Amino acid sequence: MRRKLPLYNSIQTATTPLGKGMASPQVMGTVYIETYGCQMNVSDSELMAGILSGIGYYLLDRAEDADVILINTCAIRENAEEKVFHRLQHLNSIKRRKPDTVLGVCGCMAQHLRQQIIEAAPFVDIILGPDAYRSLPQAIHAARSKDPFVGLKLDRSEDYADLAPIRKDGVRAWLTIQRGCDKMCTFCVVPFTRGRERSISVPILAEECHRLVDEGFKEIVLLGQTVNSYQAGKHDFGDLLVTLNQVEGLKRIRFTSPHPNDASEPMIEAMANCDKVCQQIHLPLQSGSTRVLQAMRRTYTANEYRDLVAQMRDRMPNLSISTDIIVGFCGETEEDFQQTYSMMAEIRYDSAFMFKYSDREGTLAHKSLTDDVPEKVKIERLQCIIEQQYQISHQINQALIGKTVEVLVEGESKRSTDDFFGRTRSFKTTVFPRLSANVGDTVLVQINSATAQTLIGNIVSPGN
Ligand code: 5AD
Repeated sequence: MRRKLPLYNSIQTATTPLGKGMASPQVMGTVYIETYGCQMNVSDSELMAGILSGIGYYLLDRAEDADVILINTCAIRENAEEKVFHRLQHLNSIKRRKPDTVLGVCGCMAQHLRQQIIEAAPFVDIILGPDAYRSLPQAIHAARSKDPFVGLKLDRSEDYADLAPIRKDGVRAWLTIQRGCDKMCTFCVVPFTRGRERSISVPILAEECHRLVDEGFKEIVLLGQTVNSYQAGKHDFGDLLVTLNQVEGLKRIRFTSPHPNDASEPMIEAMANCDKVCQQIHLPLQSGSTRVLQAMRRTYTANEYRDLVAQMRDRMPNLSISTDIIVGFCGETEEDFQQTYSMMAEIRYDSAFMFKYSDREGTLAHKSLTDDVPEKVKIERLQCIIEQQYQISHQINQALIGKTVEVLVEGESKRSTDDFFGRTRSFKTTVFPRLSANVGDTVLVQINSATAQTLIGNIVSPGN
């Protein structure tokens, strides 16, 4: 049975009685959760918040005020882990002032670097991997009795489908549909930190989607490590999109991140035919060189990726595409890099996340390849593609000037309370004078200027 309690974010509200119709549980304490890394981690933090709320913990938004501090971590690149080690030292200063504070490291880095955490941060009380969140109550209980707790068992059957996450209010909800990864890309630590792939059934997800709409969410983002390899019984990812498209009151559906090899005909057809599914895809390329793709074990060639993009654009001419690129992978030559550079120019991505290769212990590349591209070359290559992508994003956005786009209103813009911001169906941030629009409305906005990151315009048709 799913349980759900309101989210409290300050000590003051934490001590007020719960909302109408709800039994007031015993207050067990307060918790602060800090999240690093991908949307999957954001979603996992919401899950942890749900678990702890269910046993009477209240969520706070300041580490200093909380009885329990949990850091949900990322292991994908070295700098993500360095950031957390740094942060842990700061959090230890809170523990020194308030020795009863419980400090936990959760998620991928906990799974990946258990020993290093114990050595470099012996003051950490809890180490919990991504499949061990059910033990959070037990872990906190142990830690509060000064008994450190380590939970790192990967569990192929754990999908947390029976638990209710607590989400931040807003228009967009993250919905994890699949956990783990079976792909074994040589550069990637995720299969080792998150274990094997498993999917949540279509009826459970459809029910959750209805619930999200009832709670006021307008858009859902389906999450999975390779989200489109989703397979629950006989239902594939295309089936799931078609089913969720029927959820009344839901305005938009997105998903992230798909793997090019699992971009099946049914997925493309569902994207093209389902009115709620946004024609936007984040399709990681990683490299434009087939030789490097093979070394990465990406299981597609540069030409196969090109053909897939052509097929999708043929079916959806306005498809917005973004990507992930790694430069400086083991053995990447100047010629390999040039192939990535020119493929990005050829495909003309709307945007891209671009990274220097970071050698990760435990990965296949770490075991059998050499991280031989000098750091200086990695940095130069990275700068080179960042500059090119900036120009392309700018040009694509400039071409939208004068056009009218549908925007889902998300909230006040950072710069002015007179302006709202929202996203287009293609996931571009758009800023405009709010007029009489409300958060959660979809409005039509005519674009009158654009940067590489943002569109600026005016509402031409009121919301609904
Ligand atoms: N080094 C650099 N980037 C990486 N990514 C994954 N592993 C590594 C690594 N070892 C990038 C990939 C992936 C994204 C989430 O992070 O581009 O798609």
